[in-house]
Amino acid sequence: QTETNHGGPEEGESLTSRLPTREGWWKPFVFFQGFWLTPEVARSTVLVQAQFRPRADDIILATYPKCGTTWLKALAFTVANRSRHLVASHGHPVLTSHPQDLVPFLEVPHRELHPIDELEALPSPRLLSTHLPCTLLPSGASTLGCRIVYLCREPKDVLVSTWHFMNKVRKDFHIDLGKAFEFFCEGVSLGGPFWEHFLGYWKWSMEEPGRVLFLKYDEMMANPAEHVKMLAEFLGVPFTEEEESAGVVEEVVRLCSFENLKSLPVNSTGVSDRVGGLPMENASFFRSGKVGDWKNHLTEEMARKLDCIVEEKLKGSGLSF
Ligand code: A3P
Repeated sequence: QTETNHGGPEEGESLTSRLPTREGWWKPFVFFQGFWLTPEVARSTVLVQAQFRPRADDIILATYPKCGTTWLKALAFTVANRSRHLVASHGHPVLTSHPQDLVPFLEVPHRELHPIDELEALPSPRLLSTHLPCTLLPSGASTLGCRIVYLCREPKDVLVSTWHFMNKVRKDFHIDLGKAFEFFCEGVSLGGPFWEHFLGYWKWSMEEPGRVLFLKYDEMMANPAEHVKMLAEFLGVPFTEEEESAGVVEEVVRLCSFENLKSLPVNSTGVSDRVGGLPMENASFFRSGKVGDWKNHLTEEMARKLDCIVEEKLKGSGLSF
């Protein structure tokens, strides 16, 4: 077989040039298999679908962008690796590595050399992450029995967080909140419509609760310790009674808290280029870390409109915010 039917660059180029296109946040977005993506992410998705080989014991952290990916990566890494890295140890990797670097993404736009080989080289069980909607995951992810932890968030906060982030990391671009709001309400944001992204994983978690753990940022913020225990059970490494009475759960919560992560030099200084061609300040992943920050940005009318859209789109699903 040639490279082109393996999701290689040529196939990606010709495919994205044939897709429906419309104005996106900072460049035109393409409509790929039911979702709005940048052409680069669409190409990366084609490659992942064609070349990434899921393993039955993979754990995939799936999120809609700006729903708390960085936090979930820190928590899942800490919980899953606590026999190797004691939570309270001075040399814990969370103290010296940005959480984004502790768990690799499946899809990586821009990079010329896609790290599929790097993913292949990881020992099992792998902890991986993705922003892909569930219907865009490589088919083996559902047939082989990989486990998924999905994290979503109250949509008005997702919009505000995305708006701040995009204006911060893209130096050549500025979008005003009114325009960002319009796009978001139309379902046009990276991986949007966000409601389809949420609903895909929500329905999957209803059908296979043992395979898909569905979490909400807002609930996690309200009760992080309970969620850390839930996460540990789901990952197959529940806390022992000894650990619980020694306060390990609270230690995980503290280590991965917004305040602690934001204050660490590895997260508060420096610039990293994780996607290839787009260096970002490490600190840009830690902004306010609050539930309900939308109140400081959206008008009542905007909030009402977005709430109506969300209610309508999620109607009958059992998912609500
Ligand atoms: P805000 O912009 O509302 O502050 P992602 O990691 O998916 O890009 O999401 C980023 C959002 O998660 C940002 O929200 C960021 O501040 C928040 N965040 C980052 N680390 C966090 C933590 N440890 N606890 C809670 N929220 C966190």
